[in-house]
Amino acid sequence: MSAIKHLIAPSVLAADFANLSKDIQMVNESEADWFHIDIMDGVFVPNISFGFPVMHAISKHATKPLDVHLMIVDPDRYLKTCKDNGAEIITVHYEACTHLHRTLAEIKELGCKAGVALNPHTSVQLLKDVIQDIDLVCLMSVNPGFGGQKFIEHTYTKIRELRALAAGTNDNLRIEIDGGVTTANAAKLIRAGADVLVAGSFVFNSDTPKETIKELKAIDTDIQVI
Ligand code: DX5
Ligand code: ZN
Repeated sequence: MSAIKHLIAPSVLAADFANLSKDIQMVNESEADWFHIDIMDGVFVPNISFGFPVMHAISKHATKPLDVHLMIVDPDRYLKTCKDNGAEIITVHYEACTHLHRTLAEIKELGCKAGVALNPHTSVQLLKDVIQDIDLVCLMSVNPGFGGQKFIEHTYTKIRELRALAAGTNDNLRIEIDGGVTTANAAKLIRAGADVLVAGSFVFNSDTPKETIKELKAIDTDIQVI
């Protein structure tokens, strides 16, 4: 019997962009599992973060997988570019994909893990007919576009619903929570069924970010698998 261990993905969006290599090094040396990379286009979300050249620069220093969250319209145009610039996991928004099944197949053909992100208002039930083709669902627990926002409590219900939806069809599905994650809600999120926690401002605004990552990773829950 072993405990399921959740993954921690610090969001680089909250890093010091003028000192990126220092922050990347911190994550490399920490107990974090992935780098969460937020790419925005100013159209799908009302903000612009950074693009593929910056992601490429990050990939040269990062020693852990890049978990790329594309907050862009028509993501199909950039899937290969995303892979070529170091992505290991590519997550597209349900709301931005007309042919989601095809998009997921393309991501896998590139050799990446395929993720789907849902905005807070998007029902997890909409994934029913594609759940078997998804490696990761990213449940947005804030409206995408900005770091440092307040966590939306309804997320717990969505996690439970999604675990139930995937049960028996995709038991290896990773459920990632993105937005407003702290040590105050992490245990409850994991108990509800989440297994990847993204944390931006909570990590990078900390005076001791490595220690903060360690605390998130050490969150103890009673979930056991045989
Ligand atoms: C928001 C991004 C998040 C963001 C989370 O659109 O997708 O990844 O960086 O930031 P915090 O943890 O500060 O809410
Ligand atoms: Zn994100």
